[in-house]
Amino acid sequence: MTDSQVATHYSNTQITENILSGLDKAGISLANVSVDDLGPVDEFHTGGRTATEHLLKDLQFDTHKRVLDIGCGIGGTSRFLADRFNVTVSGIDLTSEYIDAGNKLNEWVSLENRISLQCGDANNISSEGEVFDLAVMLHVGMNIRDKATLFSEVARLLARGGEFAIYDVMLKNEGEIQYPVPWASKSSMSFLEPMERYKQYLEGAGFSIERTVGRGDFAESFFRKMQQTSKASDSPPAIGLHLLIGPSIKEKMRNFSQAVFDGLVEPTEIIARKL
Ligand SMILES: C[S@@+](CC[C@H](N)C(=O)[O-])C[C@H]1O[C@@H](n2cnc3c(N)ncnc32)[C@H](O)[C@@H]1O
Repeated sequence: MTDSQVATHYSNTQITENILSGLDKAGISLANVSVDDLGPVDEFHTGGRTATEHLLKDLQFDTHKRVLDIGCGIGGTSRFLADRFNVTVSGIDLTSEYIDAGNKLNEWVSLENRISLQCGDANNISSEGEVFDLAVMLHVGMNIRDKATLFSEVARLLARGGEFAIYDVMLKNEGEIQYPVPWASKSSMSFLEPMERYKQYLEGAGFSIERTVGRGDFAESFFRKMQQTSKASDSPPAIGLHLLIGPSIKEKMRNFSQAVFDGLVEPTEIIARKL
């Protein structure tokens, strides 16, 4: 997928307006909005905040103080990290509308001094080497064809012993996936790969693999719950991913959840350490 195809796929010019009106519906004023209030809209990956907490639960935040959030979206994971673990976070994302909205949301929750979100390509981050202790990447690799180069870039940026926490949708079995899905409008824009391939690229880039966790069961129950909630009510919750994705969310989630139910893909965690 080219940079402009990625940005076009994710494009939404009304993000902050949508979130403001969602907060208003939920009865939350801008003066009181918290990082947790934003969780249902700003964590754009399977299982949202619950999945983020699971991914990060065993990491060493006593030593990890400088964090890189690769493909940060509108910065939900960055805000969660800064708020919960008192770290500083640099986020990078190709979609400029996400970066603009994310920086605005940082101001709303008074985290703008500890989080900096910038527009750019994760494959080519203009920064000195060894400046981060932890890198996180949630649901981004599906957009990136050349993961070997990406992981070499992450290895360059991490200090020795630094950790890399990945939570991506990975290929599990061959079969036909229906598009659009949340990360791609058509199959030619999707670069799903199996976990074994991720491990090879990581090891080739100088990482050791600490653990891998398939989150298929978690994803299935997440989608079943989502289906039940949407059957029970005609209107979406006041604050949710529909504010970010727009009206195509139904079709994208239906196709994605079907691919999970059919065992074609599985959201998977990998924790790797730079040697
Ligand atoms: C499904 S969203 C996940 C966003 C965020 N990680 C989260 O979990 O909320 C995928 C994000 O990856 C970004 N992305 C895709 N390819 C990228 C690249 N080469 N460099 C930087 N960001 C990229 C997209 O712009 C999009 O914001």
